[in-house]
Amino acid sequence: MKTYIVGNWKLNFTVGEASIYLHKLLKAMPNYRDIEVVVAPSTIALQPLSLQIDRHVMKLAAQNAFYRDFGAFTGEVSFSQLRSVVDYCIIGHSERRNILGESDKMVQKKVAAAIRNKITPILCVGELESERAFGETRDVIRDQLIGGLGEVSDDELDKVIIAYEPVWAISSTKGARAAGLEDISDAVILIREILDEVYGKGRAKDIPVLFGGSVNSSNAGAYLALPGVDGLLVGGASLILSEFVDIVKAAKRVRNE
Ligand code: 13P
Repeated sequence: MKTYIVGNWKLNFTVGEASIYLHKLLKAMPNYRDIEVVVAPSTIALQPLSLQIDRHVMKLAAQNAFYRDFGAFTGEVSFSQLRSVVDYCIIGHSERRNILGESDKMVQKKVAAAIRNKITPILCVGELESERAFGETRDVIRDQLIGGLGEVSDDELDKVIIAYEPVWAISSTKGARAAGLEDISDAVILIREILDEVYGKGRAKDIPVLFGGSVNSSNAGAYLALPGVDGLLVGGASLILSEFVDIVKAAKRVRNE
């Protein structure tokens, strides 16, 4: 399995800024065959950047898309419109769940729509600080995972990537703190247990599970060295060229160890 380093640019950069940043990234990024580097710009930048990107070096992800292909859905962009523009789509990010009211049911439909349109969904799961405090972490992850994968058949499971992002560890969250290695390990094991439960024993080992939350070039190596962590979903640090490149280099070092 490759190691995935995914940069989620969130709502940052104009199209022009995104294009300049991508240009610099493409020049600075080492090309490792076993590391899949992905960047997720704003929707408006996807089309121009898809013409600019060198897909041998880096791939594009959308940060969101709508589950119906066409129709009266004012303001939405569909997976069918993004087909061949992006290779991946982040789905069910906590900012969409918590700020924009995205439900497990919507996430489920989006995961199905992504697969239908040959876009790899990166399904995000993760608990709030309050849910962790109430001891609900396992139930929240279970509900989000089973909910999100509700329309994914046995044959389709290997088209899915899971990302564990505890909301309390995301840098933009008030009072965010870095997740402990044990917390991440526990969550990654749990995610695989649930996948095995639903899809049959042994299926989960081939499904990439990423971690996200305050990742930077100093902690990336330690996170990636955890058994069962197959990559990172990077927010703030992906907007800083040297940081993002160093995270990719850290991934290569861990693979070579
Ligand atoms: P930070 O890396 O800024 O904590 O963001 C994490 C995230 O939400 C990536 O999707």
